[in-house]
Amino acid sequence: MKPATMASSSSFSHLLFSFFTFCLILSFSYAAQFSTPYLPKLQAEKLIRGLNLFPKNDINTALADTSVMAPKIVEKQFSLNPLGDPKPSVQEFGHHAGYYKLPHTQASRMFYFFFESRNSTKDPVVIWLTGGPGCSSELALFYENGPYHIANNMSLMWNDYGWDTVSNLLFVDQPIGTGFSYTSDESDIRHDEDGVSNDLYDFLQAFFKERPQYAMNDFFITGESYAGHYIPAFAARVHRGNKAKEGIHINLKGFAIGNGLTNPEIQYKAYPDYALNMRLINQSDYESLLKVIPTCEKAIKTCGMNSSPSLSSSSIPLHYSPFSFSKSFRSTLSESEGGDACSASYVVCNNIFNRIMRIAGDVNYYDIRRKCDRDLCYDFSNMETFLNQESVREALGVGNIDFVSCSSRVYEAMLVDWMRNLEVGIPALLEDGIRALIYAGEYDLICNWLGNSKWVHAMEWSGQKDFGAAPTLPFKVDGAEAGQMKSHGPLSFLKVHDAGHMVPMDQPKASLHMLRSWMQGQLAMPKTEHGIYRT
Ligand SMILES: *[C@@H]1O[C@H](CO)[C@@H](O)[C@H](O)[C@H]1NC(C)=O
Ligand SMILES: *[C@@H]1O[C@H](CO)[C@@H](O)[C@H](O)[C@H]1NC(C)=O
Ligand SMILES: *[C@@H]1O[C@H](CO)[C@@H](O)[C@H](O)[C@H]1NC(C)=O
Repeated sequence: MKPATMASSSSFSHLLFSFFTFCLILSFSYAAQFSTPYLPKLQAEKLIRGLNLFPKNDINTALADTSVMAPKIVEKQFSLNPLGDPKPSVQEFGHHAGYYKLPHTQASRMFYFFFESRNSTKDPVVIWLTGGPGCSSELALFYENGPYHIANNMSLMWNDYGWDTVSNLLFVDQPIGTGFSYTSDESDIRHDEDGVSNDLYDFLQAFFKERPQYAMNDFFITGESYAGHYIPAFAARVHRGNKAKEGIHINLKGFAIGNGLTNPEIQYKAYPDYALNMRLINQSDYESLLKVIPTCEKAIKTCGMNSSPSLSSSSIPLHYSPFSFSKSFRSTLSESEGGDACSASYVVCNNIFNRIMRIAGDVNYYDIRRKCDRDLCYDFSNMETFLNQESVREALGVGNIDFVSCSSRVYEAMLVDWMRNLEVGIPALLEDGIRALIYAGEYDLICNWLGNSKWVHAMEWSGQKDFGAAPTLPFKVDGAEAGQMKSHGPLSFLKVHDAGHMVPMDQPKASLHMLRSWMQGQLAMPKTEHGIYRT
């Protein structure tokens, strides 16, 4: 989910400044094409409005309550009395919401929901991360795979296909400044996957310290969209911590990315192909788009060259001020080469996407079967209404802290991370037997299945050839084909039918089936003795 908020006119002019700086720095011959400028923060704001969300603030800076700033979990058990039948069901529902003061920050507190499995406390622990960057994971909780949905009268209704029916499920608001997670210190704002993954790792350590019984369970990382960046970095961070015996051993078994952005170079190149295949553009549009690709590729390569992913934080000037984007952005541009090139490649490459959207008109880029009504593409406003109710806030222990459904400042702050290739960390995980599932709803344009399939196939690891040669098999749910999949060893790719960007929202039953069989190691159908795949 791509997000956003409200730009002041001064930040607007600064953005313009930054924008023109891009052009100057890059001296791209087709700079004239920028006549409709692509301003990141404005883009983020448009995205947020498109979801019918209106966060009051563009980042969560709630003043820290120093009385609860101890670096440990502060948690509340709650019951929001959902309607309906919570099948399958254990007697007591362990539903918790909490805050955790992140130890390697000045003043950050990370908010999370934890839903004990409706089936068994022995079920795997699954963490979900929504993308944006900067959108709250509560979007998934209430509209995708959480235990309940919100009815229009603000009642909660049990979701029969909630992922908590087969797992102990965590939703975390991150990077800091998103959702109910906040900081009062601007130096805590994250700009890269090092920062993001360290914060998540610190949180997990604290979580399992409080709940040692769950640390024995299998652990899986899941998420969507921009989480295609977070997830590989987070999985690598957990794996590294385990190997170095850093803290509590986390029983990481796999990670799943839904309609993610992971390898931008390959995925941006795939936009014209997908758009042509799906008849969003015609052949002559396609050919003219192809001309932009080499410039985008070059820009991405420059971004990747100037600083290694693990050094990327050092390319951000120390006085970076996320609370006035403009200043920070200019600093980034003038002082850090990696930052320059990466922000520039964001502008250059998104030009491809924007041109497709100009041709495609009012099509919803999360689901090309749908249209947006002017700017409105989905209506997730019930989430804000629900979470702003006093009784709910009381139950969750968030008091009067803002809920920033999507943060345009967090989005902006992560801009220098956008075009980085997060695929590079995955082969090492596969070689150590950690499972990866890359899945995608087939009607999503923005993180389309084609681009995902391409990078998964291009990824170099010991099983690359065998994966490439593996048969494409039907993914069946209740005997009907719900998708097509390909697997070899720890790696699986699944294209989900009749779904857009948010697979668990569009295909709740298939997505639950996918999660369960994948966690049980049975997504790839075992061969029978006759060499025929069972379905
Ligand atoms: C609220 O809506 C749900 C679902 O439509 C319905 O089952 C429930 O009875 C409604 N509650 C009230 C108080 O109207
Ligand atoms: C429910 O829990 C039991 C006991 O741990 C386990 O055997 C079973 O596989 C679980 N069911 C599902 C659907 O995950
Ligand atoms: C292709 O579409 C463009 C608009 O995007 C239009 O101007 C052009 O005439 C079309 N070309 C053909 C060959 O249909």
